[in-house]
Amino acid sequence: MGTQLPGASVDTAPLLSELDFTEFPMRVDTARYCAEDYHRRERDRLWSRCWQVVGREEELAKRGDWLEYRLFDQSFLLLRDGNGLIRGFVNACRHRGNALCEGRGNSARLVCPYHRWSFDLEGQLVGVPRPDFDGSLEEFVGCREELGLIAVPVECFAGFIFLNPDSEAPSLADYLGEIATLLAPYRMQEMVACGLNVRESLDCNWKVVMDAFQEGYHIQGIHPELVNAMDESRERYRFLGDHSVATAPFGAANTPDITLEQQAEAIRGLPATFPGVADSLPAFERLLQENRQGQAGHLPEGVTPRLLLQQAMRETLSARGLDVSGLTDTQMSDNQFYLVFPNLFLTIHAGEATFISAVPHPDGDPNRCIWHVSNFQWFPETEREAQKLLPTDVPEGEHFNYFLALEQDFDQMQRQQKGLRNRALTHLALSRQEVRLAHFHRQLDRWQADPES
Ligand code: FES
Ligand SMILES: [Fe+2]
Repeated sequence: MGTQLPGASVDTAPLLSELDFTEFPMRVDTARYCAEDYHRRERDRLWSRCWQVVGREEELAKRGDWLEYRLFDQSFLLLRDGNGLIRGFVNACRHRGNALCEGRGNSARLVCPYHRWSFDLEGQLVGVPRPDFDGSLEEFVGCREELGLIAVPVECFAGFIFLNPDSEAPSLADYLGEIATLLAPYRMQEMVACGLNVRESLDCNWKVVMDAFQEGYHIQGIHPELVNAMDESRERYRFLGDHSVATAPFGAANTPDITLEQQAEAIRGLPATFPGVADSLPAFERLLQENRQGQAGHLPEGVTPRLLLQQAMRETLSARGLDVSGLTDTQMSDNQFYLVFPNLFLTIHAGEATFISAVPHPDGDPNRCIWHVSNFQWFPETEREAQKLLPTDVPEGEHFNYFLALEQDFDQMQRQQKGLRNRALTHLALSRQEVRLAHFHRQLDRWQADPES
């Protein structure tokens, strides 16, 4: 494919050995994971000002669908209005401040349960009951037009709904910058969460989650079963302002000395982790047969099972209707790992993605967070509604049974927080493989720097 495709800049990005490490602060102080004052500053200088993902467009499929987003002690309301547009409001009634909505639902109007003021889907105040009591409204408070719900900036990208609590925020496009160009060809707006879509409380700071998914160094310790499927030493990295992306060559098929049969077998095993690959396996087997030569069944010089998988995926996904013309061959088979700052992590290749996110726990404890994990898959438009899975919120004290690697991470992250809470431990010492963490924490520091300094 042409080198002009956006993804080519990641396929050819610098290797670890080519990065200049003098640029990265590899010592990270630990107070940021536990200290109350750090947590408050983070709330005021980061979370109150940054774009953050709060849901998916398919969660608000119909007019009048709404959902609540909680951030520390703040509550916001996202809804699809009468024109099909997604809007954000402060979740507070303009009468005496009652929380209008909890959880998710659908309403033609938002009616406050306290005294039953009602608001239309554009946030305008449209009903005040008991007009015999209401005579004072215009006289003492002001006109009804001024008593609409308080709007909050909300924009959508790639099917994700983003909210910014700061009414002065720059546009989402400005915030995302080049990362949007890189993500757009995957057409995530045509994917839906399916198979897994869960939110659950964890006893760790939200950054422990974001750290864990930005490095592969812990695979040897925590996910030994994945050691042969990853080749972390050949990861490539791009740092794009606050955001970053890495890519790793596709699994065992790249390790030296592996036989052709072992490579093909590794590809056949992919659907266990990436279910979307299953559809392309028949085409892969066909291409494998077509390309085998002679009695030994070798592939021609330069042809590898990985290349045949890329061809099979392009063919299969295109036939189903996914436009993959914006993706490089590498992007068909190899994962790219995106961090959209501060808390949206995506592992993605053509046709599917895994989403990991974490937010501070609304209870205000820096030692707790809520993570959100989902699998996304592309489906033709006619199938999306039937395939989509809305998020499940696991009640406090209960636990969802994830697949093995996520269970391992779930336990590990909480164990790390236990260690981090020790006040005598003042800083982390990052290895080179954890360079993305260094970048991430440097950006956090930048957001929270004293404006005077
Ligand atoms: S607080 Fe909402 S109607 Fe009174
Ligand atoms: Fe992990």
